[in-house]
Amino acid sequence: MPNAIRLHSTGGPDVMRFESVDPGKPRAGQVLIKQTAIGLNYIDVYDRTGLYPMPMPGGVGREAAGFVLAVGPKVRGFKPGDRVAYVLNGTGAYCEVRNVPADRLVKLPKGVSNEQAAVLMLKGLTAHYLIRRTHRVKQGDTILVYAAAGGVGLILTQWARSLGARVIGVVGSNAKAALAKKAGCQHVLLQDRKDLAAAVKKLTKGVGVDVVYDSIGKDTFLTSLDCLRPRGLMVTYGNASGPVPSMSVMELTKRGSLFLTRPSLFAYIAARKDLDAAARETFAALKAKRFKLQINQRYALADAAKAHRDLEARKTTGATVLLP
Ligand SMILES: NC(=O)c1ccc[n+]([C@@H]2O[C@H](COP(=O)([O-])OP(=O)(O)OC[C@H]3O[C@@H](n4cnc5c(N)ncnc54)[C@H](OP(=O)(O)O)[C@@H]3O)[C@@H](O)[C@H]2O)c1
Repeated sequence: MPNAIRLHSTGGPDVMRFESVDPGKPRAGQVLIKQTAIGLNYIDVYDRTGLYPMPMPGGVGREAAGFVLAVGPKVRGFKPGDRVAYVLNGTGAYCEVRNVPADRLVKLPKGVSNEQAAVLMLKGLTAHYLIRRTHRVKQGDTILVYAAAGGVGLILTQWARSLGARVIGVVGSNAKAALAKKAGCQHVLLQDRKDLAAAVKKLTKGVGVDVVYDSIGKDTFLTSLDCLRPRGLMVTYGNASGPVPSMSVMELTKRGSLFLTRPSLFAYIAARKDLDAAARETFAALKAKRFKLQINQRYALADAAKAHRDLEARKTTGATVLLP
């Protein structure tokens, strides 16, 4: 029987158990896939700890790639052997074999490997919507990117740079600063410096940046608002340090009529046409070398707990895959 990581309660990395699970035959509208690579994401930590609640017992993981083994009734467009990938607004990707709704699967084009697709479906499609839809990054924009050497961060930084933006990165260490610079950040600041907003203002001749992409949340939210120009856009899209506490909307007024959004990928790809367009444009950007995908860590699926420990301890850079 195939194996999967299962949760019987929420908590630390050790609540993840490697167990035999029978996926069963694909039902109507489903496709049975054998997974070859699974993307590790910070959202998996929110799911595991219960920050984003889910029913128990449950699975972990939201993106993966593999081969079609069988198709259920009423499925069109897929056949055994097809290379496919998915991102789901639901957990269970940490497994060897599973059934996935056909309407959420995409076929992989030549030139995009299974490993690459396994980390692009969530991290790449997130970078895509953040810089092409939440705000359409263009020549002359100055943007501030937190966790610039991380999974989403390295893709977003390189892609935004290729669109002509000036990118100021924020990272947790000097080693990560070197990586962020190599990815195209013109300036890199350490997250723990007390005068971060003043440093950003200095780099922008006292004006502030056009957009902040903040995935850190609680620890950085107010500082990020201070980094923006009047009528700039605050994109708070993650909670690596904890969720942003509630705030008075007057904080936006005080800083010059700021715009604020708290987006999620799943709202941007809920419609099939949006999922297809996002995947197509992200794969095309990879092939056009707008960004180089850095898969810097690989773990066996059974070692998912170690992968989570390293991610939470800020030890990883770029993307990470779990290998079934
Ligand atoms: N809303 C959405 O649609 C969406 C979609 C995908 C991802 N996200 C968010 O984007 C962020 C990046 O995701 P990812 O999977 O690519 O992870 P990641 O960036 O590879 O890892 C998280 C990084 O956050 C930084 N960090 C800063 N303070 C931290 C703290 N107190 N604890 C842990 N990490 C801290 C660390 O980088 P430094 O050491 O360099 O600071 C760490 O490496 C996450 O917040 C995730 O939730 C949001």
